[in-house]
Amino acid sequence: MSAQDEKRNAAEAAVKYIEENTIVGVGTGSTVNCFIDALEPIKHLIDGAVSSSVASTERLEAMGIRVYDLNTVDHIPVYVDGADESDAGLNLIKGGGGALTREKIITAVAQKFICIADQSKLVPVMGAFPLPIEVIPMARSYVARELVKLGGDPVYRDGFKTDNGNIILDIHGLQITDPKGLETAINQITGVVTNGLFAHRGADVLLLGRGDDVETVLPQ
Ligand code: 5RP
Repeated sequence: MSAQDEKRNAAEAAVKYIEENTIVGVGTGSTVNCFIDALEPIKHLIDGAVSSSVASTERLEAMGIRVYDLNTVDHIPVYVDGADESDAGLNLIKGGGGALTREKIITAVAQKFICIADQSKLVPVMGAFPLPIEVIPMARSYVARELVKLGGDPVYRDGFKTDNGNIILDIHGLQITDPKGLETAINQITGVVTNGLFAHRGADVLLLGRGDDVETVLPQ
């Protein structure tokens, strides 16, 4: 069973969490693309979606699912998104696809955050995957120097611009043993829009594709 099969299985399992006649929160990435595909048979049962990226919006609309502006929505029972890494507490690294800020905004509104992933994403300590930071372009060098002081090795994501018009620094070399503390510390740096640690608001459930099965992991 490939990682892609595990992503698809996890994505299909997430559909069962959707409540009829509600607006579904939809994240970004290859696992979420499987989730959007899995919405096809039930799309007539939902009111529509809010989306964390231009890419997901285009995919949803191509399927005939209405995508709402988040400012017109105050109730999102379920948000479904992938992750780059998760620890056992369901603290996450996200933003490999660069959509971290919009993803974090929707998780703030959503009542339940269902994370979907293949089994490689669950790790004992996060940090092997470089932590993405969205930064206002003129603050890039200053923010990079401050990130070095926090013990990281920031690398500019060359040629990439977020949907918000900003740049991404990916921090290498971290061992994230205090996800909440690091999330707070990075967000204190002037010029940082947000960082890809989802610890203060992590996932409520992780649906992890493992071989033919999907494991339901709750935060420890
Ligand atoms: C995008 C994200 C994605 O959820 C994360 O990068 C995982 O992607 P994939 O499902 O392709 O492995 O945070 O900003």
